[in-house]
Amino acid sequence: MSDIPSIPDGNTVDQGRRNWVAMTAGAGALGTVAVAVPFVASVTPSERAKAAGAAVEADIGALQPGEKMTVEWRGKPVWIVRRTKEQLAVLGKLDPKLADPQSKRDPSGLTPEYARNEYRSIKSEYLVAVGICSHLGCSPSDKFTVGAQPSLPDDWQGGFLCPCHGSTFDMAGRVFKNMPAPDNLEVPPHMYLTDSRLLIGEDKKA
Ligand code: FES
Repeated sequence: MSDIPSIPDGNTVDQGRRNWVAMTAGAGALGTVAVAVPFVASVTPSERAKAAGAAVEADIGALQPGEKMTVEWRGKPVWIVRRTKEQLAVLGKLDPKLADPQSKRDPSGLTPEYARNEYRSIKSEYLVAVGICSHLGCSPSDKFTVGAQPSLPDDWQGGFLCPCHGSTFDMAGRVFKNMPAPDNLEVPPHMYLTDSRLLIGEDKKA
């Protein structure tokens, strides 16, 4: 597996070059329940391999229900969220409020076949999504707390809020109706190497 690089630390991405990292930090400051989980590297990636878009490996063994970690793939933030049972139970009830609940839009570009289900994932517990808004490219903030709060509807069930123009997404990265963002968040190619090791950027058709 030596040709598959990992990221030394999910929090060590060059913050000067990555607006999304700064926005992620801002989300934490706003008091979301997500907890950044340090990413432990097994192999240090070469810059050349990263620039070429090589797959990256994530150790998700320490991720607890309700937590999110972020890794960089092709210069983009990829979120890995371990959803709680309560968060999963809500997903099947939101369809009438979503713009594309079945992820039928641009399926080859946004949702690999193995994630075209209500969880948009291989394993229902884990959401893997590129944290870039489909409107103009801002990085949405975590809004995992249920209930009324600023900029969100009173019946909010948890998800993500894009701070730029107010688009909202559920815990599967599906965009709500009548939002500036036209599409769901992208689910990148990915596959599980083991129960605790996830490969992002390669799926071998899962
Ligand atoms: S960039 Fe997200 S709503 Fe405009």
